[in-house]
Order: sequence, then structure tokens, then C-alpha cells
Amino acid sequence: MENQLVIEKRPVTNKHNKEIVTVQNIYKSFGDKKVLQGVSFHLDKGENLVVLGKSGTGKSVLIKCLVGLLYPDRGSVEVLGENVLELDPVGLDALRLKIGFNFQNSALYDSMTVGENLEFPLKRNFRDMTEKELDKAVNEALESVGLAHTRDLMPSELSGGMRKRIGIARTLILKPEIMLYDEPTSGLDPVTAKEINELIVEVKEKYHTAAIVITHDISCAKTTGDRIMALAEGEVLKEGTFEEVSKTNHPALKAFFEY
Ligand SMILES: Nc1ncnc2c1ncn2[C@@H]1O[C@H](COP(=O)(O)OP(=O)(O)OP(=O)(O)O)[C@@H](O)[C@H]1O
Ligand SMILES: [Mg+2]
Repeated sequence: MENQLVIEKRPVTNKHNKEIVTVQNIYKSFGDKKVLQGVSFHLDKGENLVVLGKSGTGKSVLIKCLVGLLYPDRGSVEVLGENVLELDPVGLDALRLKIGFNFQNSALYDSMTVGENLEFPLKRNFRDMTEKELDKAVNEALESVGLAHTRDLMPSELSGGMRKRIGIARTLILKPEIMLYDEPTSGLDPVTAKEINELIVEVKEKYHTAAIVITHDISCAKTTGDRIMALAEGEVLKEGTFEEVSKTNHPALKAFFEY
């Protein structure tokens, strides 16, 4: 009997090692407005998960719940083995260091050069880094996004696509285990958007990160997603490969794939 129990437990343990995000049945309302209504999903090590859904479905709310920027009313959130809802501020800071959050509309500091923008999170989190170490880290992060030559430029001198790349470099510089991209291609022309999509895939390959990519851009979903989760009205409508999700008949989803 004891043996049987051990055998039964094994798959659960394995699953747990592989899963670096486990969200179970979360609900979130703001006043009378019900936003998330029982959302469950997981993210595996080394996987890019796309969260697809139209504006206002709660995509940003969902990823904010992963890092304690918002708290669900019900449900559980486990990230990198930590129960996010029970972490104290110190634990939350430590967890956030392992997560590269590319905020929707996140901006660079206009009064700092590109290099200074990149040094900023390092100086704040690792006060004992030497100038030489900072220099090396900045160069490496800039090279990863193909913009080593922009180090001394001001953000105002960059194109929108370049600014997005620098934003990604600024989160990569902390060597996160999970990248969160909130609408990485919004406001970009299709050619530049394609380059950002390709960069997201390159980042995964080079840094061995997992990522959650929030988007309503179908080509972004197709290029960057190993798996797609479609949200509508606060619920998971469908989850699977791009091909599987694109075959949906659900009206709220079909519209995405008709473009
Ligand atoms: N802090 C907040 N306080 C009150 N309401 C909020 C808050 N954050 C989000 N909401 C509401 O929750 C709903 C979902 O917002 P959310 O930003 O998650 O949408 P989204 O799916 O990311 O949309 P978009 O694609 O436009 O970014 C919206 O109705 C929004 O107004
Ligand atoms: Mg959003």
C-alpha cells in the first residue's frame, strides 16, 4: 500500500518541477466589475505561453497577479515555487528579481542615456557591482537586442521599435527566469513588430527563459507562442497550439483569426 502511494505521487512531483507558474481558479473584481472569473493555467520551464484576448478581458490584470502588483479575490498563484499570495515584501522583491516584467506602455527614462537606463535596475538591485561589471552587463544586454551602438544615445533619438528593444534589454539585464511581455508589438508597424516577435523567440533560446506574452496580435501569437491560451470575459476559452486555437468556432475568438 505504501509503495502504491509513492508511485502515485511521482507524476505530481515531476509536474511540479516542470511547472514554474501554476495559477488555480483565480477571481478578480473591481467593485461591481468582474474581470477574472475562475482562470487556471500553468507555464512550463522553457515555454512561451501566449495569452490572447481582446481589450479589457483582463490580460494585464492576470499577469499583475503573478508578481503581487494585484491580488486576486480568490484562487492561488504559485510562481517559481513561491506562493505569491503569502509572500512578505522581502520575498516579493526577491521573486520579482527573477521575473522580467515588460509593462504595457513602459517607458525609458527620457533624461538618461540608453546605457544609464540599463544600469539603473542593476545599481538598484546589486549595489556592490563594479563599474567594469556594470559596463559588461550593459554591453551584453544591448548586444542581445542588436543595439550595442545605441549606448550613448538618448531615448528621444530612438525609433519606437528600438525603444521596445531597449525595454527588453533593461529587463534581460537582471537575467530573469521568466519574461512577461505585455503587448510587446502594440503601436509598431508590421515589419518592426515581426522583428520584436523574432527577438522574443531569440531571448528564449539564448537566455533559456520561459515567457508569458500578452497580445491581441495574431502574428505575434503565432511566432512567439509554443502554446496559446485565449481569454474572453474573464475565462479561459481555449488553450492549445496555435493551430488548435485557430480552429475555434467561438465568436469571441474567431474574429481574431479572420484577419
Ligand atoms: N487597478 C484597477 N482598478 C480598477 N479597474 C481596473 C484596474 N485594473 C484593471 N481594471 C479593469 O479591469 C478590466 C481589465 O483590464 P486589463 O487591463 O487587464 O485589460 P486587458 O485585457 O489588458 O486590455 P488591453 O488589451 O486593452 O490592455 C478593465 O475593465 C479595467 O478597467
Ligand atoms: Mg492590457
